[in-house]
Amino acid sequence: MPTVKILPKGIEYEAADGLTIMGAAQSHDYYWPTTCGGEGRCTTCACLVVSGMENLSPRSRAEERVLVEERGQQALETPIRLACQAQVHGDVVVEKVGVRLPFALGGSSLGDKEE
Ligand code: FES
Repeated sequence: MPTVKILPKGIEYEAADGLTIMGAAQSHDYYWPTTCGGEGRCTTCACLVVSGMENLSPRSRAEERVLVEERGQQALETPIRLACQAQVHGDVVVEKVGVRLPFALGGSSLGDKEE
């Protein structure tokens, strides 16, 4: 099963093939920053792909459009992906601040999901 690693905290989890980066994190009870709830409209979930871009589904036209609208044309020239849209098909390492460990595993209680 593919592995997703989130820097700088070093969070690591497995992702069932085809789940999005954010969806896989949520399936393991991690909080992932979002404003639109994963509908591909806000870019709050955006992450920088450090390695494994080839293991993600390609950007759709809708993802490209929202990235340009929210972050400018240069967003398409950087390895930024919407975590709610990028499906995982192999190992990937991304940078994203704000992804939090579950409280039960020692994460901050601020904004973490209660179990
Ligand atoms: S969560 Fe809003 S664009 Fe991904």
